[in-house]
Amino acid sequence: MIEIKDLVKFYGAQLVLKDINLKIPDGKFLSIMGSSGSGKSTLLNLIGGMDFPDKGSIVVDGEDITKFNDDKLTKYRRKKIGFIFQFFNLLPNLTVFENVQMPLLLNGQINKSKVYEYIEKVGLKGKEKAYPHQISGGQQQRVAIARALIHDPEIILADEPTGSLDSKTGEEIMELISSLAEESNKTVILVTHEDYIAKYAEEIIKIKDGMIISE
Ligand SMILES: Nc1ncnc2c1ncn2[C@@H]1O[C@H](COP(=O)(O)OP(=O)(O)OP(=O)(O)O)[C@@H](O)[C@H]1O
Ligand SMILES: [Mg+2]
Repeated sequence: MIEIKDLVKFYGAQLVLKDINLKIPDGKFLSIMGSSGSGKSTLLNLIGGMDFPDKGSIVVDGEDITKFNDDKLTKYRRKKIGFIFQFFNLLPNLTVFENVQMPLLLNGQINKSKVYEYIEKVGLKGKEKAYPHQISGGQQQRVAIARALIHDPEIILADEPTGSLDSKTGEEIMELISSLAEESNKTVILVTHEDYIAKYAEEIIKIKDGMIISE
């Protein structure tokens, strides 16, 4: 369960998130929509422990992550969060296998068979030794999905995961995210500009000027 209360974020003098209140139960698939600059990525990054708010709390499974020190926050990110980005953010000098393996290594785990298993899950069996530049955008996003899930995080944060893919590939990526998330009861928070992508979620909320305008 994620419980966001009275969340406020400034960048310098700019008030980016005004007063966000939101409860997200475990296993929920939520989409966040809103125009460019409305604060969607800022909210996602705060939930993911990548940044600190100026006011308010983000309680995840009973613990307020905004009170965590850097060390605890790093652990939180590594254990509980899987991030999927618009531009995939794969490490270009690592193979598909090594990219997918990374979260396990960061958590001090070695489990090669699990890496093969997740590469197969996302439909990339045989591509283990390829480098990101040798595969398509849709395939790179599949690698990123395997990387986001391999350490079995509770929460998947996806910031415009289909934003740099054509609509057909985007839908395939959404099918994959939805089915894998449902299979293991992940909480998914997805940011998108596209109605047909947002509709994969159980619920859609809209942000305008740093405030939730409808639930
Ligand atoms: N690191 C930062 N430093 C300063 N200002 C920032 C920073 N990150 C975001 N902002 C500003 O905060 C506001 C909200 O940005 P954010 O990236 O959350 O919007 P967004 O809704 O994700 O937009 P987009 O749809 O274009 O991705 C914008 O005005 C942006 O310029
Ligand atoms: Mg954004």
